[in-house]
Amino acid sequence: MRRPLLALAVVLTAIGAFTGGLAWLLDTPRPPAGASRAERLYLGLCATCHGPDGRGSWRAALFLVRPGRLNDAATLDRRSDQYLFDIIKYGGAPIGRPGMPAFGSTLTDDEIAELVAYVRALSRAR
Ligand code: HEC
Repeated sequence: MRRPLLALAVVLTAIGAFTGGLAWLLDTPRPPAGASRAERLYLGLCATCHGPDGRGSWRAALFLVRPGRLNDAATLDRRSDQYLFDIIKYGGAPIGRPGMPAFGSTLTDDEIAELVAYVRALSRAR
């Protein structure tokens, strides 16, 4: 009589451990204490795909998203601030690069401008 209950408990524990582990794996990195607003926004909204250092996240690779490398100075130096601003605000779709979502409804123009500066700093960090 006890067996089915035991089996149920084992299955529930296994599901709990699996989903908990997945949540832990897929969670975005916590911003350090005293992080700037741009850093918080970047880690919260962008790191899922672009990775905390801009190299591209393996989480994104899991879903076949190819975010490129934001920390590559050679590429970033060819991009104007206006280009970076527009691709963050309107997403990549208008210029035929649909992988990059639009953040115009989530972020204010000020926040986007700070993120542009943050992304530039990432490409200079190496
Ligand atoms: C859902 C995944 C995803 C998220 C979230 C995301 N991006 Fe992107 N991003 C991409 C992909 C994919 C590309 C490349 C699009 C392409 O080249 O087709 C890209 C491209 C870019 C580019 C252009 C790089 C270049 O050299 O042209 C910038 C800048 C950028 N992302 C910044 C950001 C910022 C800032 C955030 C957070 C506010 C962010 N992204 C959030 C997926 C994402």
